[in-house]
Amino acid sequence: MESTEEISYVSQQEAIEIDQMLMGPLGFSLDQLMELAGFSVASAIGEVCSSSEYTRVLVICGPGNNGGDGLVAARHLHHFGYKTSICYPKRTTKPPFAGLITQLQSLSVPFLPVEYLPMQLSSNFEIIVDAIFGFSFHGNPRPPFDSLIRRLVSIRNQQHTHEKAAVIISVDIPSGWHVEEGDVCGEGIEPDMLISLTAPKLCAKMFRGQHHFLAGRFVPRSIIDKFKLKLPSYPGTSMCVRIGNLPQTNLSAQEGIFAASVYLEVEEDPIDQFQKWLGDALAAGVKEPHYMVLSTADKDAKPSSRMISLEGVNQDGFVWHTNYGSRKAREISENPHASLLFYWGPLKCQVRVEGFVEQVSDEESEQYFSSLPRDIQIRPIVSKQSTVIHGREVLHQQYKELEEKYHDRTSIPRPKHWGGYRLIPEFFEFWQGEESQVQLKLRYYAEEIDGRKVWRVHKLVPRLAESTSSL
Ligand SMILES: Cc1cc2nc3c(=O)[nH]c(=O)nc-3n(C[C@H](O)[C@H](O)[C@H](O)COP(=O)(O)O)c2cc1C
Repeated sequence: MESTEEISYVSQQEAIEIDQMLMGPLGFSLDQLMELAGFSVASAIGEVCSSSEYTRVLVICGPGNNGGDGLVAARHLHHFGYKTSICYPKRTTKPPFAGLITQLQSLSVPFLPVEYLPMQLSSNFEIIVDAIFGFSFHGNPRPPFDSLIRRLVSIRNQQHTHEKAAVIISVDIPSGWHVEEGDVCGEGIEPDMLISLTAPKLCAKMFRGQHHFLAGRFVPRSIIDKFKLKLPSYPGTSMCVRIGNLPQTNLSAQEGIFAASVYLEVEEDPIDQFQKWLGDALAAGVKEPHYMVLSTADKDAKPSSRMISLEGVNQDGFVWHTNYGSRKAREISENPHASLLFYWGPLKCQVRVEGFVEQVSDEESEQYFSSLPRDIQIRPIVSKQSTVIHGREVLHQQYKELEEKYHDRTSIPRPKHWGGYRLIPEFFEFWQGEESQVQLKLRYYAEEIDGRKVWRVHKLVPRLAESTSSL
């Protein structure tokens, strides 16, 4: 993340010259540049707005190259799992635009005529990508783009009234703004996110939204030298980089819009991530790191929580054993959704897991039961969870009787009321508090794509904690 002062902002003329150099002596073709720009735009959107929280995207494409970038971004967003629609009122039918239209149609991405769009765009879309005008635009927007821009402005007014408003993301220039002077009349679009391409244009200095990204990791050295550009370096293999400060004001009010930088070591699979952290907790000497809080809710959504021991975890889920006549068992039979919570104090780590619970097979419960020591096997026979007991002595007495009954038997039969449950995870949150009191979070959402369960990982740097009590 670079501070705004250290970054170059280019004029309209410089942006035109950079494009001419790229497509002239430097050998790039228009479709290559569009592909790079559109892919980078889609990646930047993915960094900030997860497809599980911001599902429906409308990409509004203008008649020029900015619209082409939007078409490419729409195609990538579709593949990233967003429900993407396009509004492309003034289609350009020459290559590479015609090819992009064909590609999108073959993916059944809908092209919506302007007149089919709802007046309140926020009612149908969580994200609106403004790919209407780029840096070469000047003058006043003509129909139908003028009215589309007005609708984007009305979303800003909705945001001010705290109604649920779509997130507006502008590609390179907020449409309707002057490329160098910004929103001259003060009544234009106020995007939440601006994705500058190649190098930010002068108007980007006036951008006041939460998220400014630079996208397009392909600028050759000769351009950087010729235009004396100071551009931030891109992290890892990312196609985009955040410019300016992370939003630090009450991000919780905007759950879901987050920064991408995080210092956790991130595994792609949340079960791997969990096993890594569990191993770290053991190695750090955390006592009983496999104890967890299990929360269930009954058919009326009344919740209840209790400590439970995690007996196994693998790609199929998290397993524990209990009494099938207990309150938690009754609640699970009424409402199979549950959550698990682990807290490993010395590491300042918390893991939340949510998912769907199923009973494990009898064979699995038998197998587990037979692996237990005898005294532990006797306990569930005695224990009648969630029922009223008539004194501790009664339990001791029963325990003694069972010990005597089974003392010469090699195996104790598993009581039918005792067995395992498995939580199949759909959501994970890994939380780590730092010395600096910055909380780091990592969220994983399960999604089904082409019949396969895939995990979307979302790295978050939420607001700075005001004090430990707010942690
Ligand atoms: C550290 C700890 C671990 C526990 N592990 C289990 C367990 O693995 N299985 C279980 O049924 N109860 C376990 N219990 C007891 C439960 O917390 C709870 O009291 C019992 O299961 C009855 O819960 P219910 O009435 O909500 O069903 C554990 C309690 C503690 C304090």
